[in-house]
Amino acid sequence: MTTTIPQQPTPAGAEPGGALLEARGVIMRFGGLTAVRNVDLTVNKGEIVGLIGPNGAGKTTFFNCLTGLYVPTEGTVSYQGTVLPPKPHLVTKAGVARTFQNIRLFANMTVLENVLVGRHTRTKEGLLSAIVRGPGYHRAEAQSRARAMELLEFTGLADKAEHLARNLPYGEQRKLEIARALASEPGLLLLDEPTAGMNPQETRATEELVFAIRDQGIAVLVIEHDMRFIFNLCDRVAVLVQGEKLVEGSSDVVQNDERVIAAYLGEPFDATSQDDTAARETPGTDQAEGTTSEQENDR
Ligand SMILES: Nc1ncnc2c1ncn2[C@@H]1O[C@H](COP(=O)(O)OP(=O)(O)O)[C@@H](O)[C@H]1O
Ligand SMILES: [Mg+2]
Repeated sequence: MTTTIPQQPTPAGAEPGGALLEARGVIMRFGGLTAVRNVDLTVNKGEIVGLIGPNGAGKTTFFNCLTGLYVPTEGTVSYQGTVLPPKPHLVTKAGVARTFQNIRLFANMTVLENVLVGRHTRTKEGLLSAIVRGPGYHRAEAQSRARAMELLEFTGLADKAEHLARNLPYGEQRKLEIARALASEPGLLLLDEPTAGMNPQETRATEELVFAIRDQGIAVLVIEHDMRFIFNLCDRVAVLVQGEKLVEGSSDVVQNDERVIAAYLGEPFDATSQDDTAARETPGTDQAEGTTSEQENDR
């Protein structure tokens, strides 16, 4: 895995500092169930922010509200000071990309093709150009392929570019989801359980990848159950319990907060423990859902 992505002119480009994403008073109700209760969350430029909490706490639902998959019952989500339209492709276009807790890849497409799909919001060539296949189309396609290959290098998947996505081991499928999300040239990347189903080595590699992504000026909001991963990585951590934000603060503050210990951790997180297994065994850890589905991205 390389640690640099050549800089791209990106509309979502970010200098460090300042608010990037601002969610205000987000409420999501499903009939009688309130899955997200009046949640405020800010992600600043250059930050890695963690979102933790037991299963069913509303973490994925909150992500869906941020990315236009759900229209929140109440509240607003702004990116760089502008309210995001509740349409996934427009949210991606605005500069917010995501991965899914249940991997969503095109299983029968190659690794490279999956990343190329992720670039569609950044390519200007339209349908007419694709039909005519003039010089503009060929130039844009070559640029897209070059960029997609850079991202595969960056995520350590370049040697698998021509493999079918469904033939990748599970951990590499999760990396491919990240590469595809990066292909939309985001300013903010949302990761929903990026290490679920990974072994400890893959998890550590993913940690490095997230740091490398942040070093490229891309802010990250990450949901995870692996507390070592969260507390190592995150500048700030928010804890959701039963749809409400219980606590928010630095890793140090959150891991020692009695309410967080009572509602989620069970016992104080032991950062000195070298035992990766213990670090992963937090309450409510989901079993990995290892299916690759042929679903449309962002829908
Ligand atoms: N589309 C939906 N329709 C009805 N209930 C939902 C829907 N999506 C999520 N929920 C419910 O919202 C709650 C929060 O779920 P979720 O956001 O997946 O939690 P988490 O990601 O924290 O595990 C759960 O009770 C879940 O059953
Ligand atoms: Mg979830």
